[in-house]
Amino acid sequence: MTRFRPGDRVYGLTGMRSGTYAQYMCVKETSAIAASPANLSDDEAAAIPYGGLLALYFLTRAGLRSGQRVLIYGASGAIGTAALQIAKIAGAHVTAVCGPTNLDLVKALGADEASDYTREDAPRGQFDLVLDAVGRRKTSAFKVACAAGGPLTPGGKYASVDDRYPRLTAALLAQLTAWAEAGKLTPVIDRRYVLAQIAAAHRYVEQRHKKGNVIITIPHDG
Ligand SMILES: NC(=O)c1ccc[n+]([C@@H]2O[C@H](COP(=O)([O-])OP(=O)(O)OC[C@H]3O[C@@H](n4cnc5c(N)ncnc54)[C@H](OP(=O)(O)O)[C@@H]3O)[C@@H](O)[C@H]2O)c1
Repeated sequence: MTRFRPGDRVYGLTGMRSGTYAQYMCVKETSAIAASPANLSDDEAAAIPYGGLLALYFLTRAGLRSGQRVLIYGASGAIGTAALQIAKIAGAHVTAVCGPTNLDLVKALGADEASDYTREDAPRGQFDLVLDAVGRRKTSAFKVACAAGGPLTPGGKYASVDDRYPRLTAALLAQLTAWAEAGKLTPVIDRRYVLAQIAAAHRYVEQRHKKGNVIITIPHDG
């Protein structure tokens, strides 16, 4: 053991193993865990790894770089709010697609353009990179068109968060930590629930309209 010492504040993602809300769990030292960002509370830090790691993994794999026109479909959710911020950090021009109540949120997070999926079938223009952060294989005219290359520039990339087996590594989390500590990546928290309200928290999340993240607070010992 070399990366951590007893008492260190750490955060991370256990992948699809999850943790059934246990207070303690064992993880490999080499997994996607890191020292928590020094400037964030535990609640705030907990809002970074899930959306941040998936967004960074899929955007990096799709070749995100400065100057690109990037569209984030589902920019108001956990993965979408992280993807939007990461694309802006990379220097992309970002169009964010979300529902009508979240247009102000995505603009506040840096979107250059925001489009309401209930009003427009598809935002106008062509994109070098489209990230579908809605997932669950739900089809819409826009998703079908993207998958067929429609709104993409020649050579443009379409990435979906539904792709299997993302490699969520400690190196990716280290990058997110650095951005959080530099104030470039902001945790987006919709609601907090105490553990006793876990069923209500699940009911809310399962509506699939959370703004960023929902946090479960677990009392510390003693
Ligand atoms: N590959 C993997 O290992 C992996 C792991 C975890 C999750 N996922 C996938 O990632 C997806 C997103 O996760 P998340 O936690 O970020 O979800 P989330 O926080 O619930 O966000 C859902 C997003 O979808 C938008 N949305 C909901 N209904 C829509 C519709 N009818 N048309 C267009 N957009 C719609 C929401 O917009 P508004 O709220 O503004 O309407 C919001 O931006 C999951 O559904 C899952 O498929 C994949």
